[in-house]
Amino acid sequence: MPSTVIVGAQWGDEGKGRVVDLYSAEADLVVRFQGGNNAGHTVEVGNLKFAFHLIPTGILRERLCLIGNGVVVDLAGLLKEMADLEAQGIRVRGNLLISENAHLIMPYHPKLDALEERSLGDGKIGTTLRGIGPAYVDKVGRRGIRVGDLAEDDVFRAKLEGNLREKNLLFERIYGETPLSFDAIYQEFQSYYTQVREMICDTSLVIYNALREGKRVLFEGANGALLDVDFGTYPMGTSSNPIAGAVCTGAGIGPRQVDRVIGIVKAYTTRVGEGPFPTELSGDVAFQIREAGREYGATTGRPRRCGWFDAVVVRKAARLCGLESMAVTHLDVLSQFERIPVCIGYDLGGRQVEHFPNSLAQVGRCRPIYEELEGWRSDVNGVSTWQDLPAAAQRYLRRLEELTELSIELVTVGPQREQTVYCSSS
Ligand code: GDP
Ligand code: IMO
Ligand code: MG
Repeated sequence: MPSTVIVGAQWGDEGKGRVVDLYSAEADLVVRFQGGNNAGHTVEVGNLKFAFHLIPTGILRERLCLIGNGVVVDLAGLLKEMADLEAQGIRVRGNLLISENAHLIMPYHPKLDALEERSLGDGKIGTTLRGIGPAYVDKVGRRGIRVGDLAEDDVFRAKLEGNLREKNLLFERIYGETPLSFDAIYQEFQSYYTQVREMICDTSLVIYNALREGKRVLFEGANGALLDVDFGTYPMGTSSNPIAGAVCTGAGIGPRQVDRVIGIVKAYTTRVGEGPFPTELSGDVAFQIREAGREYGATTGRPRRCGWFDAVVVRKAARLCGLESMAVTHLDVLSQFERIPVCIGYDLGGRQVEHFPNSLAQVGRCRPIYEELEGWRSDVNGVSTWQDLPAAAQRYLRRLEELTELSIELVTVGPQREQTVYCSSS
């Protein structure tokens, strides 16, 4: 610390939530800075399983948690998440603050998300249907409604009226759908406001003061670097910047305030939704990985697409995020394989490519070049030190370090907190 950014270095679901949970033991503040409730971060503690979509996982350790201005906030989803966590014995109120500059996901956003996906047909993105894209479109289009607008009734009313006029035209004239009612939405948001008003503040100022006081701030990324709207497999990705640089604009800090950036890397690769995925597997091997890793989306329940580790992907994330180290998760899932292929580069029309292309069409034509590593074929779920990892597992991890030029901080061998191998002394 004092300020550490944790981001996903693949296509999401790398295990960011469970790793942030580990690091938040040493943090004072934990901050989300982009994305919305498209994120699904699961943390298991003993028999309890906690699902997070908007609230930083630091809430489990009663850290002060912030939803920064770069996040798009679905208040209905947030209130449900708060209620679910409180029902599981977690104290959320008093530990959670929401940026007044964060944009609201309004009821017309998920509706538009679904209609846009439907009209794309086979070319659909496979979004989480949470309204993320349409909400960011309104933000950048300068017609978005911000959390802070709820405090000013005339502003909120005028913005809602203006937005609904436009959205209802779209619903009726373009999509042949029924319009949404101003009164219903207005009342719904009045009720939400009374439930969250105490949490709304200038979170950037809270972070600034915390850093000045020498407190330790942890930034929890959502989604994954390869879903980034600028650098991911555009347009098959999300509508925010999950790369580390977004912490500056999404939380309101300067680049010099970031001390450390850690990438979360699954020991293989998964992806949910559409879009190219060079090392994707099908058939039995994909099934074996999916079942062992319980690879089903935390937000939508969709089966995740599974494939071998892709060093080209992680190298891209490392470059974009300025990673210096990584946490490798899900090592246990690979214990079943005798040989484990690792993608070291791509073949693109007979040419070897070492950098992930920006053109979606080119990525689609890339064929992975594999190097086969020896598997270890023994359970690692109970291992807690580097020395106790099978030699072949150590070699696998060392090879990932070489291929990505990142050092490994820790390895996880199961979803529980204790199923972690710290590598500082390895
Ligand atoms: P995130 O979105 O990056 O936070 O990741 P998700 O929570 O969506 O997906 C990771 C899933 O894998 C969660 O269900 C975790 O409980 C689980 N998990 C995390 N680490 C490990 C691990 O080392 N091994 C196994 N088998 N599961 C893990
Ligand atoms: P976490 O934080 C995996 C994917 C969706 C879809 C694309 C666009 O749990 O890692 P969106 O709803 O954002 O417009 O969908 O991005 N996607 C994720 N995939 N994990 C996530 O978050 C994701 N967030 C978005 O599946 O392909
Ligand atoms: Mg997830």
